Amino acid sequence: MNMDLKEIKNEVFKELSTVENTDDLENLRVKYLGRKGELTLVLRSLKDLPINQRKKIGSEANKLRNELENKIKEKVGELSAYGRPTAGWQNKKVDITAPGVKISQGHLHPITRVIQEIEEIFKTIGFEIIEGPDIETEYYNFDALNIPDNHPARDMWDTFWLKLADSKSHVANGTSQMANSRDRSNKQSATGNKLLLRTHTSPMQARYMEKNNPPFRIVVPGRVFRYEAQDVSHSHTFYQLEGLMVDKDINVANFKAVIEEFLKRLFSKDIKARLRPSYFPFVEPGFEVDLKGGQFKDWVEIMGAGMVHPNVFKAVGYNPANWQGFAFGIGLDRIANIKYGIDDIRLLYSGDLRFLNQF
Ligand code: FA5
Repeated sequence: MNMDLKEIKNEVFKELSTVENTDDLENLRVKYLGRKGELTLVLRSLKDLPINQRKKIGSEANKLRNELENKIKEKVGELSAYGRPTAGWQNKKVDITAPGVKISQGHLHPITRVIQEIEEIFKTIGFEIIEGPDIETEYYNFDALNIPDNHPARDMWDTFWLKLADSKSHVANGTSQMANSRDRSNKQSATGNKLLLRTHTSPMQARYMEKNNPPFRIVVPGRVFRYEAQDVSHSHTFYQLEGLMVDKDINVANFKAVIEEFLKRLFSKDIKARLRPSYFPFVEPGFEVDLKGGQFKDWVEIMGAGMVHPNVFKAVGYNPANWQGFAFGIGLDRIANIKYGIDDIRLLYSGDLRFLNQF
């Protein structure tokens, strides 16, 4: 190596090892690689050298420049990783009474907040939290819930069917097995079953009961999907929370007590609730619960509910003479709307930060 280059190399690496902050590093870069830097000058003078020297010294000088550039990059990384102060920090005055820099924090989506709050309430009244799949089989979404193929009640849930669907529906030979089957998961794959995006969280009633014996109390939060037009109170994707309590001697009074307690704890503001008769194939009798209050001058339907139908118990292998239960499915988006004064459900899915940052 040319004498100049050797010296430059020794010097530069010695200086690099003493660099303590980004200002020193920048000075070093300018000293060697700047427009008038020592190494830059060597590179510029190459053109005046005889051809045989030019090649050799040129390649060595370029090698040194690359090496130095890499070292500088490494050092920048090191300095920023350790957060070393800039030069002269020891002499700068620090106002220890100045307020700190506010760290911006993320926050939870209003639906997530509602889910967490509702889960806490149900936990304190003895319910366990369970989760289930978004992609369901036709059997759990409908058949096990006393809604066989061709039942007109299937129209209550406009369904997104999945293309993966197996052409052979098990329904034709499946219904007769419902009464004595405790776990259909193997039979599902053997017979094939159409797949869909669950239209409600109720399929988890059957899935849970097949694998567990009563008594129990569960709630199942989850996303559900419906092939329907959107408006201020309807979305094609929304959230529900299923509830199921099975025990001996359970009746409508138990359901009312649980729901009243739940509503009392969830809403501090003045919200009125009413229970009215309704129809769902998997309960008998069936109800709907409406709420009124806040920005809502009219009643808003927030849940379907009822006493578990004997056919649902039979489908999971329970004896309906021994067990009773109530079930409910709460629309969580509508709860969020009432709780936070949101007047259009579509805002929840807009991803609009002007809206989301308010929570
Ligand atoms: C059901 O989905 C039944 N599975 C509820 C049930 C469970 C009944 C257990 C009996 C026993 P429904 O389709 O009414 O019922 O929906 C329940 C709640 O979800 C409604 O009260 C409403 O609050 C909410 N909901 C329904 N459709 C939509 C929609 N498109 N957008 C937003 N929320 C909806």
